[in-house]
Amino acid sequence: MGIKVTFVQANGVEKTIENIAAGESMMEVGRFNGVEGILGDCGGSCACATCHVYVDAAWEARTGKPDEVETGTLDMAPDVQPNSRLCCQIRLRDELDGLRVTVAPSF
Ligand code: FES
Repeated sequence: MGIKVTFVQANGVEKTIENIAAGESMMEVGRFNGVEGILGDCGGSCACATCHVYVDAAWEARTGKPDEVETGTLDMAPDVQPNSRLCCQIRLRDELDGLRVTVAPSF
């Protein structure tokens, strides 16, 4: 039994990915599955902001808020909103099965 997540891409097309193992980051899942707008240029070290997403309201409590480092990197991204996260910092676990995010506009 794996974890399932959905990305809403900038063009409005949804991409759902299933059977993900716990421990992968949301950025890795998006990048390896060709989600438009998830570039992950820094490889997940919270330094580039090319993995910016908006977390759906229903999931915000479970994904949590960005820490200080993530907030600093998010400052480089356009169109930051209160539910913005860098999805390389969202580590998938069973509790996040069903997670839904919208890809933020890219640079
Ligand atoms: S992949 Fe670079 S900040 Fe997330």
